[in-house]
Amino acid sequence: MAIRDSKSPNTYWYQSGVTREDRENMNRHRGIIVWFTGLSASGKSTIAHAVEKELHDKGVRTIVLDGDNVRYGLCGDLGFTDCDRSENLRRIGHVAKLFLEAGVVVLTAFISPFEEDRSRARRMLDRPEDWLEVYCSCPIEVCVSRDQKGLYRRALNGEIPYFTGVNSPYEPPQNPDVTVDTSKLSVSESVKRIIEAFEKRAFFF
Ligand code: ADX
Repeated sequence: MAIRDSKSPNTYWYQSGVTREDRENMNRHRGIIVWFTGLSASGKSTIAHAVEKELHDKGVRTIVLDGDNVRYGLCGDLGFTDCDRSENLRRIGHVAKLFLEAGVVVLTAFISPFEEDRSRARRMLDRPEDWLEVYCSCPIEVCVSRDQKGLYRRALNGEIPYFTGVNSPYEPPQNPDVTVDTSKLSVSESVKRIIEAFEKRAFFF
């Protein structure tokens, strides 16, 4: 399946009279996409939700887009071939950008195993500071030992095709903004590193 990143025929962009800056000024903070990537069970969702809680408690508007949840509806027609993953992340990139326009902190927790898919989502953004890439680095042996969903056991038994790290590849990011080794750091230590990265970016007004 080819990547369908075009527009429908006979459609015209309507420019809102309320701008992203207007919304950010009302929120008193910037919008940003925090893109988590890492193997299944590497801690992406746990840390994304913990970052969300900390930001929410500070009055920041947030949304978590989580791989499993998004596949219940918006991307429920997609599986896990390379093409389906690309389409999954293409849709997520666009949804995240819409939330960014709303001045929201968007925390995306997807394996997003391919560099090309991650960089396509990043290239859609107007400014480099709109993107914070967080690599949940964790040895696969540790992910397999966690196996909260029992999926590694099934994949290693040959019951799940295209399982990342088992029979489908994972390309680690070359230059992530933040790396958290979740086999060594606690959740709160990981959260602290990510929040520090926010504070360096003049995030609050
Ligand atoms: S991505 O590769 O397209 O970014 P995504 O993050 O949406 O993946 O979905 C990953 C989640 O789907 C995993 O956390 C796991 O629960 C579930 N899953 C089911 N099948 C697979 C598979 N073949 N490979 C990886 N994860 C899978």
